[in-house]
Amino acid sequence: MKIAGSVVFVTGASRGLGLAFARLALAQGASKVYAGVRNPAGFNVPGIIPIKIDVTDEVSVIAAAKECQDTTILVNNAGIGSLSKGALAPDMIGLSKHLMDTNYYGIVRTAQAFAPVLAASDQSAMINVLSDVTWLSIPMLAAYAASKSAAWSLTNALRLELKAQNTHVLALHVGFVDTDLVKDFNVPKSSPEDVVHEVYAGLEAGKYEVLADEGTRHIKSTLSLEDAIYFNPPLPD
Ligand SMILES: NC(=O)c1ccc[n+]([C@@H]2O[C@H](COP(=O)([O-])OP(=O)(O)OC[C@H]3O[C@@H](n4cnc5c(N)ncnc54)[C@H](OP(=O)(O)O)[C@@H]3O)[C@@H](O)[C@H]2O)c1
Repeated sequence: MKIAGSVVFVTGASRGLGLAFARLALAQGASKVYAGVRNPAGFNVPGIIPIKIDVTDEVSVIAAAKECQDTTILVNNAGIGSLSKGALAPDMIGLSKHLMDTNYYGIVRTAQAFAPVLAASDQSAMINVLSDVTWLSIPMLAAYAASKSAAWSLTNALRLELKAQNTHVLALHVGFVDTDLVKDFNVPKSSPEDVVHEVYAGLEAGKYEVLADEGTRHIKSTLSLEDAIYFNPPLPD
């Protein structure tokens, strides 16, 4: 699947990784780029069309899919994060529901609404933005990581189901990326542009999965080992 000539719809495109997905699609020759944003009036990037979408609101998701019937690549990027006081914290259920509504059910909603749209073109793709925490949770990330693991599982089911309509499903797994989401963490971070470059190259090469940094590649490489990294990961101070 080529980026050039495609019509790309990115959720959560107001900033961060989503904005990089939208900008780079345009730079690589997409014929149209839709920026799915919660506040279209606040979005002004020449050449990119803002479309109102809140992935927690089914009505807005259906309306966006109806408006953007020519979409050939859907990027499920919108996401939120939050730290918790641990997997046993009193607010664990409430926080999990909150994160799942965007990070997991958000993808369910957009996949349901956009699958028929993607089916209308000979070749199409769905890119789901996941994380390295898909495979490695720690107590303070318990709720967020669970939402990304759920989204990974969903991504794998969607990949099989959408094959019949020639929609290629690619998952992005990545550690820290330099965006607002992790601005308070003083750790090495990938640049959003580098990550998106790798994702689009992966899509064009027909990959199912892009592991965008060394840390993520290492986590995945240990999964089948007796001492897989998630048993004893390095914990932050
Ligand atoms: N940054 C990292 O280290 C990192 C690592 C791994 C994975 N990720 C994933 O990458 C994705 C993008 O995150 P980011 O780092 O770019 O974070 P970000 O800078 O905080 O941007 C998040 C984006 O998602 C949008 N959004 C949030 N809730 C939404 C909703 N209900 N409906 C529609 N849009 C919504 C935000 O829109 P508003 O501007 O309206 O708030 C914003 O555009 C997320 O799925 C995140 O989990 C990030």
